[in-house]
Amino acid sequence: MLDVLGNLERTHTCGELRESSVGGQVVLMGWVAKKRDFGVFTFIDLRDREGVTQVVVSEETAAEAHAKAKNLRGEFVIAVKGEVVSRAEGTHNKKLATGDIEIKVSELLILNDSKVPPFQLEVAGSENLAAEDTRLKYRYLDLRRPQLQHNIRMRAKAVSKIREYFDSRGFIEIETPILLKSTPEGARDFIVPSRIHTGKFFALPQSPQILKQLTMISGFDKYYQIARCFRDEDLRADRQPEFTQLDMEMSFVNREQVYREMEGMFNHVLKLIDVNLPTEWPRLTYAEAMRRYGSDKPDLRFGMELIDLSDELKDTDFAPFAEVLAKGGEIKAIVVKGRADYSRKQTDELQEFVKRYGAGALAWIKVPVRTGSDSDWAPASSLLKVLGEEKIARLTELSGAVEGDAVLIVAGKKSVVAAALGALRNEVARRENLIDRTKYECIIVTEFPMFEHDDETDTYVAAHHPFTSPMDEDLELFKTAVNDPSQHHLLGQVRAKAYDAVINGYECAGGSIRIHQKEVQALNFKALGMTPETARSRFGFFLDALEYGTPPHGGFAAGIERTCMILVGTENIRDVMAFPKTASAQDLMMDSPGDVDDAQLKELGICVVSE
Ligand code: AMO
Repeated sequence: MLDVLGNLERTHTCGELRESSVGGQVVLMGWVAKKRDFGVFTFIDLRDREGVTQVVVSEETAAEAHAKAKNLRGEFVIAVKGEVVSRAEGTHNKKLATGDIEIKVSELLILNDSKVPPFQLEVAGSENLAAEDTRLKYRYLDLRRPQLQHNIRMRAKAVSKIREYFDSRGFIEIETPILLKSTPEGARDFIVPSRIHTGKFFALPQSPQILKQLTMISGFDKYYQIARCFRDEDLRADRQPEFTQLDMEMSFVNREQVYREMEGMFNHVLKLIDVNLPTEWPRLTYAEAMRRYGSDKPDLRFGMELIDLSDELKDTDFAPFAEVLAKGGEIKAIVVKGRADYSRKQTDELQEFVKRYGAGALAWIKVPVRTGSDSDWAPASSLLKVLGEEKIARLTELSGAVEGDAVLIVAGKKSVVAAALGALRNEVARRENLIDRTKYECIIVTEFPMFEHDDETDTYVAAHHPFTSPMDEDLELFKTAVNDPSQHHLLGQVRAKAYDAVINGYECAGGSIRIHQKEVQALNFKALGMTPETARSRFGFFLDALEYGTPPHGGFAAGIERTCMILVGTENIRDVMAFPKTASAQDLMMDSPGDVDDAQLKELGICVVSE
């Protein structure tokens, strides 16, 4: 038989009581985290969102409560009434905030029972956690774990700090609709069928991009929103199909003014974990980031910059290298300090790693530590036979490797070398423990390319989104590349007023100064292969709006999840979301996506064709 709560009121949380409360009468409520039965005494660790308090039920002083306590199991919901007492000498628990006291129970109510949870909630260390799929199926139980409670509350604090920041800066919070028209921004849209207009569809926003630009045309000048975004794209460790952005936009601004707000907001939010960042973050152009780190979101908590060996090898006879260079490719390297002892197995593993990024192979040089009488000392290398001892010595010198170091080399197309070595740099840093987890390295990456070439379709696509403005310096180049078909390839060289905020190797925010003149916008749609008719059918309303006095404007959007990942120090985006989807875009708890009734489909005029 369960007890009823009645008029009983909780006086304290389970994380609140201290030595100073000793002698007081209290009522606590929560879940049974642990029960230890010592015959005449039963000890219970009572847990709620604020912490754990030990309660003691004695057969001698509270026979009825003691009898009830016998029936308790993990996750039962109880209320206890009793006196706060000091713990006996030698039984204080320093690990617990409430560890100096316990509750001597006079009354105990069992408010609800619980099935045995499908996995252990009280685990020490994340390596002992149950399989993630099981935890996702019973997410409401997993969320009871203190670590997830902490993460989700940290997220709430972050959002509150963001609001505090933008409110104090005169920004206006405006909600934009979720049921939109499909206006692709790079990913696939999630679409929603309309019942009233059978055969027509809404699309969920990939971001409120166009709408926030329209708020600028409407004269709001400074807008922000905590916005839900939906993208049907391939998932990665830091991506979800449904996620939240801090989205902002301002009028009459240049890039530096937007950077200031980006820095200001992140600096304000990171104070939550006592991190003080410079008022102005270092800037790095995209080109320099790619050249030095092989990535547009470099993790600057460690060095290991890429070294270009192409020049030194420009006259090489070694066919694979010569071919790469003849085709405009590159040969680059990173130096791994103190790892001249890499085994064959380890270099093979690293070779397999870079192959995933399209590299053909990974060459290496190992610089042994010289011992006193070592007259034939020389670096060892997988390239020794083909390049000769002298060249290997030159490459070693050029790379800056010293005794004890290893040099890892990749040759190929520029984009492949960057991707492979950029990823290898991160991988090696992780394996070699080179990352100082107490550091926060924030940068703004600027001057992104305006377009990316899609090799499959041989077309140019927007690198950020189609509303991003080219750099003033590249405007003529942009116009020539669009208007002169023979110069189309120059699109690849046009730089945009686009930027990202990167923290510890994560792209936490991205934005741009927008195109505000209709001619330039029309030109950009043309560059992206849209005929005027297609552009009008997709974005006609926006092109119309641009004709009514659009102010120069720009902004950015920050990933709330990515920001929270930094705040709580996790590499798994699901750790900062209450009800996330799996890597295959499913909700295991609700079992969605799911089927719908035939009647519902019929009403929508939809017929599902199975292949
Ligand atoms: P962008 O696409 O760069 O820009 O997104 C901005 C930020 O949102 C986060 N983010 C994601 N987080 C989790 N899961 C995802 N699938 C995901 N995709 C993006 C990242 C990213 O930096 N409208 C533009 C912004 C603008 O130009 O103002 C936009 O959405 O942290």
